[in-house]
Amino acid sequence: MTPIILKVNGKEVARDVPGETLLSDFLRETLRLTGTHIGCDTSQCGACVVHVDGKAVKACTMLAAEADGTEVTTIEGVSNSGLHPMQQAFNDNHGLQCGFCTPGMIMSGIDMVNRYRAAGEELTEAAIRNELEGNICRCTGYHNIVRSIQQAAGEM
Ligand code: FES
Ligand code: FES
Repeated sequence: MTPIILKVNGKEVARDVPGETLLSDFLRETLRLTGTHIGCDTSQCGACVVHVDGKAVKACTMLAAEADGTEVTTIEGVSNSGLHPMQQAFNDNHGLQCGFCTPGMIMSGIDMVNRYRAAGEELTEAAIRNELEGNICRCTGYHNIVRSIQQAAGEM
């Protein structure tokens, strides 16, 4: 077992975890933060995206032990009151079609808006589509997801 201490959604968490535990399993099964979804076993779908120290990470590609000392934000922690602008935009544009991929889409969307803003670059529709490469929408309905991120980019 490996002792880890990290912050999850602003609260300190201290646990002993088996060394092979994935961050995605730790969040879902140990902390019961089931908004982080598992949609594949090949690290391709992006349903498990969370933020680690402010950057989007596929939680199924990281060990819980590697998250020791970090700050993790899950979909449950993106807003302290009401909906985050990205959540509101997905609601407004019907971007949450299946709901299963949605947490990962929202976490990736927030990350891309923040990154492009920090770099002083425009987050164009083409850039959003390119950035969503790691998030699979199996119902192929990317249009509303892209529109949602465009709306949120103007409001965040
Ligand atoms: S569950 Fe992590 S990428 Fe699919
Ligand atoms: S909206 Fe989730 S798979 Fe298409």
